[in-house]
Amino acid sequence: MNKKNRKGLITVIANLKGGSGKSTVTFNLGLWLQMKGQPVVAYDLDPQATLSDVAEVRREEGYAPPLVVYQSQSDLSEQLQIHPGQVLVDVGAANMDAMKQAISVADRVIIPVPPSQPDVWATQRFLGIVDEATTGGKRPELFSFVNRADTHRAVRESDETEEVLGQLPGISLIPHRLFQRTIYRRSLSEGQAVFELSRRSKAVEEFSVFANALFPDIKARSK
Ligand SMILES: Nc1ncnc2c1ncn2[C@@H]1O[C@H](COP(=O)(O)OP(=O)(O)O)[C@@H](O)[C@H]1O
Ligand SMILES: [Mg+2]
Repeated sequence: MNKKNRKGLITVIANLKGGSGKSTVTFNLGLWLQMKGQPVVAYDLDPQATLSDVAEVRREEGYAPPLVVYQSQSDLSEQLQIHPGQVLVDVGAANMDAMKQAISVADRVIIPVPPSQPDVWATQRFLGIVDEATTGGKRPELFSFVNRADTHRAVRESDETEEVLGQLPGISLIPHRLFQRTIYRRSLSEGQAVFELSRRSKAVEEFSVFANALFPDIKARSK
């Protein structure tokens, strides 16, 4: 399918550091989009294969709808563009070639950043990778946000991280944090989205605000 005919977006969830929440966010966004009536396919390009594993747990447990996760990598940039619906890509530094290919065709790249100095440095370095991947081509919109924010108000690291992220050139800060909460860990281990595990909780509320900010058109349609 010609890219102009695509209705959904290619959203790449990436950064250079493991453990920042790429797979957690991809899994929950995939199920959130499906809940909103959007067709979704996900690509797991990380050799750790966390997204594939959690989708498998979900399938085994019989939770509906399943999340379709592909791992295939041949002709990746073409493959990513053939789906008419929303495409989510989970990719990290362990697969640099796939990461660059995915970025080169992405509509936007979302970068989860835990609140720490090394994670901020890694994000700055990641922007260099985006430059390399998009030289001479189209540049995706770039977004960062703080994931695993500390729930204690006295801890200032999330504020400091957001402040620095907000000053990085060419990248927008999503001003909606996801906090460090057990339910996100349960989400991965049990194969359910946070909004399936709990009807009303702080995590469900914050995830909904976050997802709506990323997909504002879907919010408008579902009202
Ligand atoms: N907001 C959060 N609160 C609590 N645990 C989280 C949160 N985000 C991610 N985690 C946990 O951190 C670990 C790493 O997350 P994961 O999504 O696998 O990161 P990545 O894909 O970037 O390596 C997992 O155990 C996951 O459940
Ligand atoms: Mg992962």
